[in-house]
Amino acid sequence: MTFRNALTLNINGSEHEVFIEPHWTLLDVLRREIGLTGTKENCIEAECGVCTVLLDGKAVCSCILLAMQAAGRSITTIEGLGTPDALDPLQVAFLKHGAVQCGYCIPGMILTAKSFLAEHPGTPTRHEIREAISGTLCRCTGYQKIIDAIADAGAEGAQAAS
Ligand code: FES
Ligand code: FES
Repeated sequence: MTFRNALTLNINGSEHEVFIEPHWTLLDVLRREIGLTGTKENCIEAECGVCTVLLDGKAVCSCILLAMQAAGRSITTIEGLGTPDALDPLQVAFLKHGAVQCGYCIPGMILTAKSFLAEHPGTPTRHEIREAISGTLCRCTGYQKIIDAIADAGAEGAQAAS
């Protein structure tokens, strides 16, 4: 018989109660128990970045974080970032620059960029952006348009703040 523990997670501003086994990762719970499949699964060993979510605003790989470790923290998935009618500025910039092909890496890429721009307000250099997204692998785009989009969103944010 498998024992499960009750766990309450704050995801995208709402409380979710789930019953989990202690070894389940946050990625397991988000996708399988809550149905938030915008967070992608691939390597499950912190190598590709497609499972990235924000934990208290910082980008983390949800495939190596136990769900229990996220208790009491604020979790943001791609579903919590903007709506179809009111996209996040990063989503707007990715669309504007045609920075999406198959899309598999994009939720993790955008959340990684969100965390990076929050920590580096203003206009980061292309080198800084490249370093920031180096843990998120994209097989399609060649990265240039992604970097353009993040640079644009950073510049727009800097303008809005001035
Ligand atoms: S699935 Fe988590 S880093 Fe690849
Ligand atoms: S857009 Fe296909 S992996 Fe990045």
